[in-house]
Amino acid sequence: MPRGLILGIESSCDETAAAVVERGARTLSSVVASQIATHLPYGGVVPELASREHLRAIVPVVRAALTEAGINLADLDAIAVTSGPGLAGALLVGITYAKALAFAQRLPLIAVNHLEGHIHAVLLQERQARASDDAGESPNNSSEQQSLALVVSGGHTHLYLAEPTDGTWHYSLVGRTLDDAAGEAYDKVAKLLGLGYPGGPWIDALARFGDPHAVPFAFSQIKSKIHLGGKPPRTKAAKTAPIAALDPHFLFSFSGIKTAVLRYVELHGLRDEAGARVPRMLAAGRAPLTRDEALALCPQPTLDLIASFQHAVVGDLMKKTFAAAESLDAGRILVTGGVAANRELRERFAAEASRRGIRIAFPTLALSTDNAAMIAAAAWPRFAVGEFAATDLTADPSLALGS
Ligand code: KG4
Ligand code: ZN
Repeated sequence: MPRGLILGIESSCDETAAAVVERGARTLSSVVASQIATHLPYGGVVPELASREHLRAIVPVVRAALTEAGINLADLDAIAVTSGPGLAGALLVGITYAKALAFAQRLPLIAVNHLEGHIHAVLLQERQARASDDAGESPNNSSEQQSLALVVSGGHTHLYLAEPTDGTWHYSLVGRTLDDAAGEAYDKVAKLLGLGYPGGPWIDALARFGDPHAVPFAFSQIKSKIHLGGKPPRTKAAKTAPIAALDPHFLFSFSGIKTAVLRYVELHGLRDEAGARVPRMLAAGRAPLTRDEALALCPQPTLDLIASFQHAVVGDLMKKTFAAAESLDAGRILVTGGVAANRELRERFAAEASRRGIRIAFPTLALSTDNAAMIAAAAWPRFAVGEFAATDLTADPSLALGS
């Protein structure tokens, strides 16, 4: 009987990650090499630099994951790799390396959709918690039930109905953003305020010092048919079912709020003494600020703006997610992806779930943002049913999840 050891490899965006997970339920190691320092001066991910950094990091990161897990390549049962969606050049580094390793070690290769990985971050954590509750007994699967999953990250804001059938998971798209992802809005707003990259953690840290009701940002109901006039939406996200087939109540749009923030900054002259937007962390040659330094430089109206932006985004995510859960009679909600690390989001989603009597789960903070443990965990059900990748596997930057 194999131990069920899967090496996961993730390189879809700006993190090179490798992890070893046993039977989709026990993380033996999880190594993440972040490229934040490389992209920081540009205020966003530069695809060419991302590929170069992945090339540099992939071998040491995989080696570190094996060493930390205390195993050799020969102990593995399979290799799993993110095949999309993401940056083509970045994905190719992980895929090429995973293919070479699998070929050399005569191991099966499993292709994993990055979004499915984010959903399995929550499932992995639950299996781990159950396994330790059971004091080493084999994890039971009783809570692996139909769930509404909100995947909210820098590249995606998607709602899926996730259902386990015969050991594998099936996904149907319920809602999605028509334009920017929520994390993208966080990153763009942080950039225009002169905060660091990625913007989410900065806004998360500063929002609690502002008044969330100071600026009344509003999200209007999306009328997809009128908006799109039958044309495909302008989106950088994965190709998925036609927008017209989705309930407009579960569609998101985050490009407007970014423009509204910019207009507010211009209108209210939110500038520091030198006439620049505060706190100008991105100014060339400046060392990154700490949160307290940024806080000292941020005038109260900027903090109020930050708090109001976050309050509005979290409110919109909540409204549509809970409406979808109710309409689909979902047993529970999973919230995952980088933005799920947000403190206000967790608190308000948890409070609303308890008010409505619906179960909700989040990954740990480390499992919320990109990592490879989630990729190895998502691969486990595939391994169990022998669903392996073809030898011509390649990167699919706009890979869709489910139907
Ligand atoms: O899942 P992830 O690591 O990569 C993608 O698949 O996109 O998500 C990264 C995104 C970035 O936009 C980042 O600003 C956002 O997640 N993020 C946060 C927080 N931590 C990361 N957004 C809000 N609050 C946070 N604490
Ligand atoms: Zn991600």
